[in-house]
Amino acid sequence: MRILVLGGTVFLSKAVAVQAMERGHDVTVAARGESGQPPQGARFVKLDRDNPGEGLAALSRETFDAVVDVARIPAQVKAVLAALADRVGHWSFVSTVNVYADNSIPGQHPGNGKLNDPIDEDSTDPDIEVYGASKVACENLVRSAVGDKAFIARPGLIIGPGDPGYRFGYWPDRLAEAGEVLAPGDPQRLVQWIDVRDHAEWIIDAAENQVVGTFDAVCPPVPFQRFLDGVAEGMGTTPEFTWVDQDFVQAHEINPWSGEQSLPMWLPLPEYAGMLTHDVTASVAAGMRNRPVAESAADWYASMKDKPRDPQKGLTRAREAEVLAAWHGRDKS
Ligand SMILES: NC(=O)c1ccc[n+]([C@@H]2O[C@H](COP(=O)([O-])OP(=O)(O)OC[C@H]3O[C@@H](n4cnc5c(N)ncnc54)[C@H](OP(=O)(O)O)[C@@H]3O)[C@@H](O)[C@H]2O)c1
Repeated sequence: MRILVLGGTVFLSKAVAVQAMERGHDVTVAARGESGQPPQGARFVKLDRDNPGEGLAALSRETFDAVVDVARIPAQVKAVLAALADRVGHWSFVSTVNVYADNSIPGQHPGNGKLNDPIDEDSTDPDIEVYGASKVACENLVRSAVGDKAFIARPGLIIGPGDPGYRFGYWPDRLAEAGEVLAPGDPQRLVQWIDVRDHAEWIIDAAENQVVGTFDAVCPPVPFQRFLDGVAEGMGTTPEFTWVDQDFVQAHEINPWSGEQSLPMWLPLPEYAGMLTHDVTASVAAGMRNRPVAESAADWYASMKDKPRDPQKGLTRAREAEVLAAWHGRDKS
């Protein structure tokens, strides 16, 4: 198949291009080339979607069996649809679970989850504050232009080799050191993620098999304890987990999810009870497969060998030791 990946220079869209080439497809990637290099063997078309001009005009004279787009800005999505919709067999759009309006409801899926109101379809606003509303608008544009051939995937946290963020990486790094580890909240609370390679494979499978529809792209929910055990298995260590209840974690100003002094994959309940508990029965039936987290962790860690970590990201070891000491001393005060 002739496949056009809009993006292709970083993480998921690059993994899609690599996966498509490994299966023998003829792959074009179109981007500015600022986020990274296109994968070797792919044809590269220089395209700035803020100023598409000749780059998009050249693509619009071609035909593709499949297009994959990861954009978040509606005006960019609208422009490629106008140029390419009639010349394409299948269209994958990578959205996000952030399209859902209420993060407190467990068991949501595209058939029952209420969405954020969309931002204007001509919006060029890149602000993270409008991320969910922008992706809703992008999805709507895709459905109205190519709905009968569109595969819309809504990933949650994407993990694995090449991850430019540190929302997952904290745990392999921390569990590689083993010892006593601060584990936040209820060990039975559920979490979800998707490995970048599993997502890429599903997107190419969808193009090859003409899968259409809207699906959440995260693994079936797993208790946090099993997630951590899996990461530890991938690191080949046996840490001693000390589960510290949510109120105590919050009282000690540990941040959820990401950033400075945070514990990634941890979100406060009940306000985020729906964020990592999507019902993905339909996604599994539509071909999504999920590898063990031990493999994702080991491969991420290997991909980061000798690479610097941002010291501002995640809970520092010093702060973790202070909070653990306070937890153990709580009954003595
Ligand atoms: N990471 C997560 O945990 C997560 C979670 C939920 C959903 N998602 C979604 O998953 C997708 C991830 O995509 P990704 O891994 O490929 O990362 P990304 O950072 O969304 O990639 C953007 C791609 O688009 C290109 N691009 C950006 N601005 C451009 C412009 N003005 N003109 C042309 N190309 C442009 C970039 O290349 P150049 O910069 O080289 O142009 C890059 O190849 C996104 O849709 C994201 O919203 C991610």
